[in-house]
Amino acid sequence: MIIVTGGAGFIGSNFIRQWLATEQDGVVNLDKLTYAGNLQSLADVSGNPRYRFVQGDIGDRELVDRLLAEVKPHAIVNFAAESHVDRSIHGAAEFIETNVVGTFRLIESVRGYWSGLNETDKAAFRFLHVSTDEVYGSLDFDAPAFTETHTYAPNSPYSASKAASDHLVRAAHHTHGLPTLTTNCSNNYGPYHFPEKLIPLMISNAVAGKGLPVYGDGKNVRDWLYVTDHCTAIRTVLSKGRIGETYNIGGRNERNNLDVVHTLCDLLDELSPRADGQSYRTQITYVKDRPGHDRRYAIDATKLENELGWRAEENFESGIRKTVEWYLANGAWVAAAASGEYRHWVEKQYGKAVA
Ligand code: NAD
Ligand code: DAU
Repeated sequence: MIIVTGGAGFIGSNFIRQWLATEQDGVVNLDKLTYAGNLQSLADVSGNPRYRFVQGDIGDRELVDRLLAEVKPHAIVNFAAESHVDRSIHGAAEFIETNVVGTFRLIESVRGYWSGLNETDKAAFRFLHVSTDEVYGSLDFDAPAFTETHTYAPNSPYSASKAASDHLVRAAHHTHGLPTLTTNCSNNYGPYHFPEKLIPLMISNAVAGKGLPVYGDGKNVRDWLYVTDHCTAIRTVLSKGRIGETYNIGGRNERNNLDVVHTLCDLLDELSPRADGQSYRTQITYVKDRPGHDRRYAIDATKLENELGWRAEENFESGIRKTVEWYLANGAWVAAAASGEYRHWVEKQYGKAVA
């Protein structure tokens, strides 16, 4: 068995689905079910005998100790986190609690479990920590992409909390010998992405006839990776990565936000045209910029590609079309995800801009 934390979120749910379809081992999904956790994202695998869900917090030592002793996993993949930059600007307490303190407590539990294993199991065990390119800070437009040796310079409370967790993982390996792996990935997109993030927000607002809120001048650049490519990269690092190393993950798909929004509008114009014949582009509205908004992220994935042989399968054009098609076909999932707490968030973040 392996234990996946945060498996009811966007990337974790895609990872579990891919894992069950391609690997022999079973998965225990430990997830607190915050506003971002959604068991409907795993409805299709919930009856699989190799899958089990446990609701709980990665920072709950008693629960995690018990689970480790019972499941006896040979690997942990840690996705659990507060993940939305804008929310960390409104209030960072939860980010520190889960991303820093929670990760620390999880490492402590895992260290206790790992140190009690026999030598063979100890050597085979892996703790893979899923992190982000945002820990490296912002790039100038003409600067080379982030490599694994780029200086950490996090700029938001979210990225600072992720940077802290990366350092705790590094220290657990360096000081205590825990067999860790860390991955730093660029922006993901694809099915089951919570509608607070740029791409699913634009698609769901567009079809709902709402405004498409672009921050600032829309020229900020992100490096987009289709979510299943991130999942294959994590599986590759888990099986072949060198202990104690970090691996950057990205698909060399840099786009500025306005280009992304235009692409989404054009695809929607083709796949689900507006009744009045106008383009969805007319719904674009420029809103106040995100404070401290990082200008550009870009990942150099050469190490992962050359050392471990991973390649992204999707390019932006193929991935974004699949994504739009998925959202159009899964309105019920979006409606459920966007109910409740999410409506308060939209009001707080956008006010009347997306009404
Ligand atoms: P998400 O917000 O969609 O999901 C996070 C999941 O973690 C949710 O299911 C939530 O319920 C769970 N969770 C939160 N706090 C928890 C806790 N204390 N204990 C147990 N479970 C908890 O996030 P995501 O976009 O799927 O990101 C997953 C991971 O990948 C995060 O660590 C994030 O930093 C990292 N990452 C994300 C991206 C991206 O573009 N989304 C890119 C690079 C790295
Ligand atoms: O780079 C990896 C990171 O990507 C992950 O670590 C984070 O968990 C994930 O949320 C994502 O962070 P971003 O801040 O890049 O993603 P977001 O979708 O929030 O924003 C993408 C870009 O779009 C960013 O430049 C801000 C802009 N944006 C976002 C929203 C929500 C808008 O212009 N309007 C919006 O309404």
